Amino acid sequence: MAIRKIGIIMNGVTGRMGTNQHLMRSIVAIRSQGGIPLPGGDTLLPDPILVGRDEHKLRALAETHDIERWSTNLAECLANPEDEIYFDAQTTTRRADALRAAIRAGKHIYCEKPIATDVSTALELAELADHAGVKHGVVQDKLFLPGLLKLKRVIDSGFFGRILSVRGEFGYWVFEGDWQTAQRPSWNYKKEDGGGIIVDMLCHWQYVLDNLFGRVTSVSCLGAIHIPERVDEQGQKYTCTADDAAYATFQLENGIIAHFNSSWAVRVYRDELLTLQVDGTHGSASAGLRECKVQSRVNTPRAVWNPDVPNPIRFQENWMDVPDNGAFDNGFKAQWELFLKHVVLDTPFRWNLYEGAKGVQLAELGLQSWAERRWLDVPLLTGSKED
Ligand SMILES: NC(=O)c1ccc[n+]([C@@H]2O[C@H](COP(=O)([O-])OP(=O)(O)OC[C@H]3O[C@@H](n4cnc5c(N)ncnc54)[C@H](O)[C@@H]3O)[C@@H](O)[C@H]2O)c1
Repeated sequence: MAIRKIGIIMNGVTGRMGTNQHLMRSIVAIRSQGGIPLPGGDTLLPDPILVGRDEHKLRALAETHDIERWSTNLAECLANPEDEIYFDAQTTTRRADALRAAIRAGKHIYCEKPIATDVSTALELAELADHAGVKHGVVQDKLFLPGLLKLKRVIDSGFFGRILSVRGEFGYWVFEGDWQTAQRPSWNYKKEDGGGIIVDMLCHWQYVLDNLFGRVTSVSCLGAIHIPERVDEQGQKYTCTADDAAYATFQLENGIIAHFNSSWAVRVYRDELLTLQVDGTHGSASAGLRECKVQSRVNTPRAVWNPDVPNPIRFQENWMDVPDNGAFDNGFKAQWELFLKHVVLDTPFRWNLYEGAKGVQLAELGLQSWAERRWLDVPLLTGSKED
C-alpha cells in the first residue's frame, strides 16, 4: 500500500487553461481525492512543480493549492531526473521549443493543443518523442465531455441508421475589452502571436470528427476578422490580425458531411456554447457540453412550410434526453488520469502527438483553403503509428 509519487513539471500554469483546467480541476483535484489507485493497492500521487516567469504569481498559486515546489528556471527543472513528465500549456508559439528541450531531457510529454502552428513542426515533435523513447500525449478534452460521451453512446447503439450530416455550432461573444474586459487573452486575436480561431478550433473538430464519425478527407474553410480592433489586458487598443470566426465544411471518408461554425463574435441562442446536431436516416441527436437529446424516426413531426399561420409544432418539445447512466468526471482530469497511468503502468493511450499533428494539419489546411478560396484534400499523415 505504498504511495508512488510522480513528478510533473507544469509550464504555463499561470495561464487560463493551466490554472483552471490543468492545475485546479485536474492535478489538485487528483491530489485532493488522495491520488489514483493502482492495481495491487498502491496509490499514484502527482507531485507538480509549477514553472513560469512570474515569481509572485507562481508563489501565490502554489500556496493557494498547497503545492510545495515552483520555479522560474525551466532548464533547471528539466535537469532534475525526479520529475518524469513535462506538461506545457504555454501560448501556442512557445510550445515547440519547450517540447524539444523536454524531449532532449528524456521527459514524457503531455501538452495542450495545438501542439504546434504548422504540421511539419508537429510531426517533427512526434517523431522526436518516439525516437527518444518517451511517452507522449495531447489534450483532446472535448472527447471527454459528458454530452459527447452520451452522443458516442447513441452512435454505438446504431440509433442513427446511416449518419448523413453533423452541424457544429460553437462560440460566444468575446467582449472587445473596452467597456467590458475580454474573457480571452489578447494573443488569441493576433496572428503573429499564434492566435486565430482556425488554429484554435479546427484541431478540436478534427479529433471530434475522427473519433466519433470518421476521418476528414477534405475541407473548405472561410475565416473572418469580424471585430477589427480590440483592447488588450493593459487597456491598449490593438489591431486584430487573426480570424475570430471560421465557417468550415468537412467531407468524411464515409460520405458524412460536417459543417462547423466557430465564432468569438456570436451571441448565444442555443442551450450550450457548443452544440452538435447529428442527422441520420433513423434518428437525430443534439449534443452539447453536458446534455444530449434525441428524436427518432417515429417521433419526427410532419413539418409543413406555412408562414400564414402561427407555427403549430413546438419542435424542441418531442426530443428526449439521453440519461447520464453514470457519473462524469471533469474531462481534463479524466484524460490526465489516463496519461499518468499510461506513463506508470504502460496502459494504452491513443491521444498522442501524432494525433495532435492531425489537428494541426487540418487547421493549416483550413487556413490555406481560406487564403486560396478552394476545397483541399486532407492527406493521410505518414509516420503515425496506426497509419
Ligand atoms: N483544450 C482547450 O479547450 C483549450 C482552450 C483554450 C486554450 N487552449 C490552449 O492552451 C494554451 C494556453 O492558452 P490560454 O488561453 O491558457 O492562454 P493564457 O494567455 O491564459 O496563458 C498562457 C501561459 O503561457 C505563459 N506565457 C506566455 N508568454 C510567455 C513567455 N514569453 N514566457 C513564458 N511564459 C509565457 C503565460 O505566463 C501563461 O502561463 C494555448 O496553446 C491554447 O491554444 C486549449
